[in-house]
Amino acid sequence: MAKLTWHGHSTFTIEAADGTTILVDPWFDGNPVADRGIDDVKDVDWIFCTHGHSDHFADAIPLAKRTGATLVSSFEVIQFAGSQGLEKVHAMGIGGGYDFPFGRVKMTAALHGGEVHGDDSGHWTCVPGGFVFEVDGVRIYHAGDTALLTDMQLLKGRVDVALLPIGDNFTMGPEDAVRAIEFIEPDVVLPMHYNTFDQIRQDPGAFRDRVGERARVEVLEPGGTLDLGKG
Ligand code: NI
Ligand code: MN
Repeated sequence: MAKLTWHGHSTFTIEAADGTTILVDPWFDGNPVADRGIDDVKDVDWIFCTHGHSDHFADAIPLAKRTGATLVSSFEVIQFAGSQGLEKVHAMGIGGGYDFPFGRVKMTAALHGGEVHGDDSGHWTCVPGGFVFEVDGVRIYHAGDTALLTDMQLLKGRVDVALLPIGDNFTMGPEDAVRAIEFIEPDVVLPMHYNTFDQIRQDPGAFRDRVGERARVEVLEPGGTLDLGKG
């Protein structure tokens, strides 16, 4: 069965039953709450980035170059990565899905900023997104950085595990995350993008209380793991 590990902020590892390792929004060395440094990250097959901001993308190109992982992100982020010499890449667009060897992934909409970290030319900008991964029969939605969107209603009944930002200020906060859960109706919710720095302080226990019976909220510590067995 698939396994999910939270590394702090929006950084997750999804490990499939066959050992395929998928890293989402890698941010280790500059991340004040990360459970490990970038040098401790080994054996990555795929790296997915929801958008180009440094707290989701800063480690992606160096990690992809060292591990040989394929980087998947929006077209513009991938064009930028190519300009930095990264060869194993896969570009996607919002609303598009693709059957990867480990399962299908669809890119979802997000409402957020589009700067691409590391682009000193200012040439590249991206449309931020999120992803729905289907791994070992479990559907995992990583929302990326986003405001509450009515588009999230389109995910109703199509997500088992939702990874949702609750930090407020830069993304939706706890109140809108609860509304997102009402739209999506996932079984399990993991809060992310909170308590990394002062502007996004939140109490995950209070968030769990607020969600109540709508979904099971799993609050992990950085480095914490959740088994994603269905049923
Ligand atoms: Ni961002
Ligand atoms: Mn962010």
